[in-house]
Amino acid sequence: MTAAEMTPYGREAARVADQVAARYAEVAPAHQHSQIAVVERLLTRLPRGARVLDAGCGTGRPTCAQLCAGGLDVTGIDVSEAMLAAARANVPEARFLQLDLLGEQAAGLGTFDAVVSFFCLMNLPEPVFVSALARFASLARPGGTVVVGVPERPGDTPVEGLYGTYQPPRCTRQDVRRRAEQAGLTVEEIEVRPGTGLMGAEEEHLFLYARPAPPGTSSSSPSGHSG
Ligand SMILES: C[S@@+](CC[C@H](N)C(=O)[O-])C[C@H]1O[C@@H](n2cnc3c(N)ncnc32)[C@H](O)[C@@H]1O
Repeated sequence: MTAAEMTPYGREAARVADQVAARYAEVAPAHQHSQIAVVERLLTRLPRGARVLDAGCGTGRPTCAQLCAGGLDVTGIDVSEAMLAAARANVPEARFLQLDLLGEQAAGLGTFDAVVSFFCLMNLPEPVFVSALARFASLARPGGTVVVGVPERPGDTPVEGLYGTYQPPRCTRQDVRRRAEQAGLTVEEIEVRPGTGLMGAEEEHLFLYARPAPPGTSSSSPSGHSG
């Protein structure tokens, strides 16, 4: 996929992720305990061979590797060529595609028993975050599961990332619940786990567990965000 085929958000994410992929692979493993525990929990709910999509899969570690080890059929998508190169080397048993989760091409992926996405959506403005969740709702089969992890952000505290300090948009547990409902998801739970940021700061990690709302009951239909 060319940069021109990505949404502006996908293009910017690819630019940043291509720059930081090598450093991310070194630093991130020390800070991924919360998502590992969440995937362990998900594995107890899915039969072997279940189809799972990891949106914004990064290096494939830990999530795609963990899902494959659990006997699941795993597809990872990411906009970053550097992240995908690492993922293909790290988890050869999974299928990896360069796709923008917000773009129209991702709408044609089919449906999955579960869609997971960890630490991918947190810098998106609210309407685009909702579009991303609506895309996940449309990619999960009826009765399927959507699990999304983000750090909780009050909106007034700068965050230190791999590429410097920045002010992320607000993303509280109430925001995640409201956005999920707007996206046509039925929220089962928002689990709060202690975590650390990439530079070691303590933070709370929010994990949304949701299902696509049954047809005719959602407050908005999935629209995707094409720019
Ligand atoms: C912070 S990394 C997290 C990677 C992985 N999920 C993990 O938990 O380690 C965020 C990843 O999301 C990807 N990403 C961001 N926006 C995306 C989009 N619109 N479509 C696909 N991938 C995206 C980035 O390229 C990057 O690899």
